Amino acid sequence: MKKTVEILADQTALIARSLDLILTKLDNAIKQQGQFTLALAGGSTPKPLYEAIATQKLPWDKIHVFWGDERYVPPDHPDSNERMARLAWLDQVNIPTTNIHAVPTLDNDPAVSAAKYEQHLQTFFSSKPGEFPALDVVLLGMGDDAHTASLFPHTEALQVRDRLITVGNKDGNPRITFTYPFINAAKSVIFLVAGANKRPALAQVFADSADDLAYPCRLIKPQSELYWLLDAAAGAELSA
Ligand code: 6PG
Repeated sequence: MKKTVEILADQTALIARSLDLILTKLDNAIKQQGQFTLALAGGSTPKPLYEAIATQKLPWDKIHVFWGDERYVPPDHPDSNERMARLAWLDQVNIPTTNIHAVPTLDNDPAVSAAKYEQHLQTFFSSKPGEFPALDVVLLGMGDDAHTASLFPHTEALQVRDRLITVGNKDGNPRITFTYPFINAAKSVIFLVAGANKRPALAQVFADSADDLAYPCRLIKPQSELYWLLDAAAGAELSA
């Protein structure tokens, strides 16, 4: 695994750098394979990045967007990661609706929705159960408890290694999430982390030894590339 840690001056620089990195990966992927597959993070940090991507002139028909996790709410709910990305980006560009691979959240049963999303991914990637297809880029955030996607500390989702998608649990609220082996299959994993409130979690994630189940970001070890893009507020105590 090639791990790169970059500490950017502030959130504006962090977003500019993450845009630049993603556009490079996008360009290379489309040149090499004719398409680019990207899994989005939810939360607040990536919103300005999605707004910046929306300003770019890109071959939208060759770009496929997935979600690394989703709250178990309807797509028009204020907490929906899909809603955030559509408002910030996807509704502003000419991307084919079939290229937007949203997480199903209307089955009244998170396990059914997780299985449906898994099936959708297997169909898209022509992969079989037990195989972990490689997205070009998986974007991730990190909570101040060192969770990522919807892989929360000491939850069952951290034990799932034979599937692409599982049901996460945040304080009893169900989420749909990529499993960590599926994230680790990606060609590039890019963390975007901003804010001083993330420092204690980052210290544990970067520590030589700590409990992986207490700090789930520690489980993210892609065979290929791992980028940590941090603003100075978050990364101040890390030796980059
Ligand atoms: C979600 C996210 C989650 C997020 C972190 C960081 O659905 O909330 O996928 O994993 O990335 O909680 O969130 P912030 O960017 O808001 O700090």
